[in-house]
Amino acid sequence: MAVNKLTVVGAGNVGATTAHIAACERLGDIVLIDIVEGLAEGKALDIAEAGPIQLYDVSVVGTRDWRDTANSDIVIVTSGLARRPGMSRDDLLAKNVRIVREVAENIARHSPNSIVIVVCNPLDAMVYAAARVTGFEKNRIVGMAGALDSARFSCFIALELGVSVEDIKCVLMGGHGDDMVPLPRFTSVSGIPLTELLGPDTIAGLIDRTRKGGIEIVNLLGYSAYYAPAAGAVRMARVILNDSKSLLSCCAYCDSQYNAGGCFVGVPVVLGRNGVERVIQLDLNEAERAQFEKSLAHVRLLAEKVDALL
Ligand code: 2OP
Repeated sequence: MAVNKLTVVGAGNVGATTAHIAACERLGDIVLIDIVEGLAEGKALDIAEAGPIQLYDVSVVGTRDWRDTANSDIVIVTSGLARRPGMSRDDLLAKNVRIVREVAENIARHSPNSIVIVVCNPLDAMVYAAARVTGFEKNRIVGMAGALDSARFSCFIALELGVSVEDIKCVLMGGHGDDMVPLPRFTSVSGIPLTELLGPDTIAGLIDRTRKGGIEIVNLLGYSAYYAPAAGAVRMARVILNDSKSLLSCCAYCDSQYNAGGCFVGVPVVLGRNGVERVIQLDLNEAERAQFEKSLAHVRLLAEKVDALL
């Protein structure tokens, strides 16, 4: 059987950690690419040298040459500037859209059949930019945010309840920003609705912490999170390569679904070998719909900014 090939674009904290986790999970042969001389080569070599200890046999190659990425099954885009204290994700748009444009052109040229997982910020806008530039079918472009935001929400719920993170299942919608929409009504602890276990004020506190989860880390570290974002990206890659048909929250193309009218936004989807196999349509109540529409309006605004820059 052919070995899967994964390209990780950007060898910074998120990219290198993604490559390392993907190697540990033996997802396939990995190419790490960056424009900075020596960076991808050095990180890839270090990851390869951990192989005999962590017992993975996959090839990990670092490069600056897009030809080495040819015919990847999956390309994970982590390149771009990350937030610093005092910055919102939206502040990154103008610079990162230029980076994503160049990356997307190279993906289309060298891996025309790949599935693209976008990780850089502002997430929903960068997914849209990648879709526009590659021209790929919409199911082959997906954004990693829901996996991260759901993991944060699950982590905070598990800490609050003193239960295993394995027991928590949650759904989260909207853009990857402060107006994201964690949905307690669709969140359970081993099948028990969250709303049966925690009061509304406690749940509201956990939602608020989840919404501010990115900036909490930026304020602690002085730079952006990377372990959980990388773990989220690798989880999506694994689900796609294994054709698991797992239901995850991802940034995906929605047209009639949720009346999104042709927008990439966070929704529950089934992920498999074709990328986004389908969007799950939830029957949101009035309050949930209002929150989602507010977030969607923000995502649309950012997409318009992308249009102006591309
Ligand atoms: C975060 O939420 C990097 O946007 C990412 O931490």
